Amino acid sequence: MNADYSERNAALGALYGEHIDVVRSRHDHALERAGAAHAVIYSGNPKRAFLDDYYLPFKANPHFLGWAPLTDLPYSCIVYTPGNTPVLVYYQPHDYWHVAPGTPDGYWTRHFDVRIARTPDDVIAHLPADRAKCIAIGEFDDEALDLGIERVNPATAVNILHFARGAKTDYELAVMRLASRRGVAGHLAAEKAFREGKSEFDIHRAYCEAVSHIDAELPYGNIIALNEHGAVLHYTNLDRDRPAEQRSFLIDAGAQVHGYASDITRTYAAGDERFQALIDRMHSMQLEIVGLVEAGVDYRDLHIATHRMLAAVLVEAELASGDPDSLLETGVTSAFFPHGLGHLLGIQVHDVGGHQANESGTVIDPPSGHPFLRLTRVLEEDMVLTIEPGLYVIDMLLDRLRGSQAEDHVNWSTVDWLRPFGGIRIEDDVRVMSGTRENLTRDAFAAAS
Ligand code: GLY
Ligand code: MN
Ligand code: MN
Repeated sequence: MNADYSERNAALGALYGEHIDVVRSRHDHALERAGAAHAVIYSGNPKRAFLDDYYLPFKANPHFLGWAPLTDLPYSCIVYTPGNTPVLVYYQPHDYWHVAPGTPDGYWTRHFDVRIARTPDDVIAHLPADRAKCIAIGEFDDEALDLGIERVNPATAVNILHFARGAKTDYELAVMRLASRRGVAGHLAAEKAFREGKSEFDIHRAYCEAVSHIDAELPYGNIIALNEHGAVLHYTNLDRDRPAEQRSFLIDAGAQVHGYASDITRTYAAGDERFQALIDRMHSMQLEIVGLVEAGVDYRDLHIATHRMLAAVLVEAELASGDPDSLLETGVTSAFFPHGLGHLLGIQVHDVGGHQANESGTVIDPPSGHPFLRLTRVLEEDMVLTIEPGLYVIDMLLDRLRGSQAEDHVNWSTVDWLRPFGGIRIEDDVRVMSGTRENLTRDAFAAAS
């Protein structure tokens, strides 16, 4: 973490106490429902490469990160007993192969009873003696510490914790604002590199330098897509060569601060005015959808409303003809926009609980014909979610329209015009409020300009 972010840690410290109170009360409730006395939240361990002895980048258990911003602390545990100060069993081995975690330090430490453990046995020694009264939360693979706890990730408790995580605390919102600002710094550097004619690989490097992340620290693999690559929804190949001609640039890239993510997409034209006009239209459509975000709205309705708006954009851009209902019903809008409108965002880029109706885990399915929608809940205050409509030329999907009624709705010559540009996606991170919303992404772009 660079100096800029450490300075801001002072402000985070003032919010952290309330955050930890909220986390504690969620666990009180989860433990009570699960009929257990202690929660042991295991941070996780790096996974070993197959048939080798080196480790893949460590990703901490998001439940653990919800307690403390310790993104790089494997083999450690938080032991929580309602009414008591949470114990952080902090694994700090004597290790000459790797850099061991440093001395616990930061705004969060005073909220824990920190116990340093030098060996796996030391870690185990700090767990409650009566393991039958414990639940463990985490991933337990072959390399994991054997905590001796039988009840692992019980659904009763986990559903409660996941459902609650939809709404962010003030601390989490503050951290996510920082993650947005960090991501935007990368986006600005990437756009500059694109304008300079750099390759995807070099644009990626410019991004990573600006956000001060190595690849493993990015919340997800950067999508840095020039020209037709913009039509591959999760394009992460990073071509080393510059294309002969630069027509368009789609970048979907985020950053993290204290384990919380931003998830931002922008699309740029290299000079083509018609493509630029379509990008501008997608921005105005996206802002219109963002303007509908508020507490009480069913996100499924927003997704369907987006398809209607997109139908109008397709007609205006002469990519399709017909009324919105026909374009939706014949699958034309889905062929151009085959992914969901967005998802919850937080510790995980696709944060948990997006399909939960309640803390019992009742599932709300996506609307029929829209299987990839990751958020189907009614929006609540302080949820943070993405709004990320797109419009792409994906021949695999458009070809399926041929031979049906849908074929006649598509203006195939305009599709041929758009194909070399790949596609457009505009993605902002938005906080739900009562009757209004906060756009973390646009605020961060405004602050940077
Ligand atoms: N970057 C992945 C997503 O936008 O969902
Ligand atoms: Mn997203
Ligand atoms: Mn994204």
